Amino acid sequence: MSFYSQDLLEEIRSRSDIVDVISGYIRLQRKGSNYVGVCPFHNDRNPSMSVNPPRQIYRCFSCGAGGDVFKFVMEYENLTFPEAVKVLADRAGVVLPEQDASREARQQADIKAQIMELNRLAAKYYYYTLRQPAGRQGMEYLLGRNLTEDTIKKFGLGYADKYNGSLYQYLKSKGYSDQLLKESGLMQVDEKRGMYDKFWNRVIFPIMDIHNRVIGFGGRVMGDGKPKYLNSPETRVFDKSRNLYGLNLARLSRKPNMILCEGYMDVIAMHQAGFSQAVASLGTAFTTQQSVLLKRYTNEVLLTYDNDEAGVKAALRAIPILRDAGLTARIINMEPYKDPDEFIKAEGMEKFQERIESAEGSFFFELRVMERQYDFREPESKTAFFRALAGRLLEFEQGIERNNYTEAAAGRYHLSYEQLASMVRQVGEKTGGLQKRTETEALPRRRRKTEDSSLRTQRLLITWMSSGASLFRNIRKFVEPDEFTDPLCRRVAELLEEQYEKGRLNPAALFQYFAEEEEQKQVSAMLQDTIPALSGREEEEKALQETILRVKQNSIAWQTAHMDPGDMETLQKIVQKRREIEKLHISLD
Ligand code: UTP
Ligand code: MN
Repeated sequence: MSFYSQDLLEEIRSRSDIVDVISGYIRLQRKGSNYVGVCPFHNDRNPSMSVNPPRQIYRCFSCGAGGDVFKFVMEYENLTFPEAVKVLADRAGVVLPEQDASREARQQADIKAQIMELNRLAAKYYYYTLRQPAGRQGMEYLLGRNLTEDTIKKFGLGYADKYNGSLYQYLKSKGYSDQLLKESGLMQVDEKRGMYDKFWNRVIFPIMDIHNRVIGFGGRVMGDGKPKYLNSPETRVFDKSRNLYGLNLARLSRKPNMILCEGYMDVIAMHQAGFSQAVASLGTAFTTQQSVLLKRYTNEVLLTYDNDEAGVKAALRAIPILRDAGLTARIINMEPYKDPDEFIKAEGMEKFQERIESAEGSFFFELRVMERQYDFREPESKTAFFRALAGRLLEFEQGIERNNYTEAAAGRYHLSYEQLASMVRQVGEKTGGLQKRTETEALPRRRRKTEDSSLRTQRLLITWMSSGASLFRNIRKFVEPDEFTDPLCRRVAELLEEQYEKGRLNPAALFQYFAEEEEQKQVSAMLQDTIPALSGREEEEKALQETILRVKQNSIAWQTAHMDPGDMETLQKIVQKRREIEKLHISLD
């Protein structure tokens, strides 16, 4: 939470018109009462971002990014909330009182900034060393791996020399404390030997965030030593689950997809061959946050994990994560090579491009892996496979999607659609339509949340409520915040009520109450959605009435489902409420 007062934030907000501010970053064009522009948060050419001046919020209809003016600056410049406040305050000429910041919060922000600075200095130091006589072995290693000088420069590669106190001494000479050096992850601490460099006698790969700030390092031995790669530990600025190696470059590549691989060298080799959309996870398993990050820039991800058992497993884990983020995934076949680096070295970029074009859809890839566990020459085993396949198809919750995949799978195994569909039905009935895990342990899958209609109704009502003071005044006569069963909707309704009581509805000011990215997106969707165009006041009134009724009925249904059956008092209240609703007359006046 911020450590500035609400009044101060409002002061800054009122002097930071969202259209002015966003225009400073991207080109906006007027469209009706809104402004539109090309969203900077995902790879796009179309103006899918809309900025709404009355509400002082923005939202991208394509990637879902959205929020108020503070949020935009945070996202665009990758700043923390207090940092974005500072940027906007400076811009608006508002002086931030020093004492407003809690000591602790300021210290935290300071430490982060200092660690970033240390990382920058270290990266420069390694970069410099690589080009000194002491760095010759490192340079030879990198050139020996077919990297050009341009590439080495572009990725800021460096070298940590043989003496494992060089960086320590350099940073000490700049006046940094042992405590900070320890927190930076650049040093190792040992009871006997004290503090010394984590990286020595290795070539260095600086890891950058999307704004080219160095957040950590990987270091490779120049030969067969172990461990092959050493990586910075997680620090205050280095969260391995939320960053991807190479994304700072790949996000600007303007390619129709992103390529996800496992290694630093793979990313670099691909970029050098012109595949500048390549990124890698950071020596850890691919995460949901990383998939959300990718979704900002693309709709399709091509996987080139290592061509071995571990790589296949990793791909099978990544696929459902990508799917859940709304990304389609295809798998690039690297046979007979181990990874993209080796492939490109042996076959060249054109052949790699061909492999990209012939990449296999993730569903067929999953099927192929599944097939390996069965013997199709054995009727029993073959039948078991089809049963497993049917179980797998049942995991697609949406009818159309399931039908499409059923059709595709039927084609693959020379079955008729009807044959396979009826098998799916049978298996579904036997398992109660439950998403049974198939035998293949390798296919983890999470149930996809389907947005149910009650949730949509609640969100729609929030959209109505935030559309203006007179509408709000009307609606609050009929609906109370705790009639929203969805926690996020309820919270927004409560906050709107608070604002209303204080005298002014201010939807843009709601965002600071939601810390999670996902929550902010949902809130901005509710606030920015437009009410369906209706042809007249009468129709509008009717639509609103229905929405209010549905929210109230849903609330009662929820209470009924969650009450203790023996609780007569609650039951009576529910019955009473139900009667009230029947008699309710909702008007817009
Ligand atoms: P690989 O072992 O596949 O190495 O590890 P690579 O990318 O092909 O590297 P080269 O070509 O031999 O130089 C893939 C990734 O796994 C992490 C690193 O991020 C590496 O890029 N890794 C691997 C480690 O963190 N530590 C290790 O010891 C090995
Ligand atoms: Mn490799």
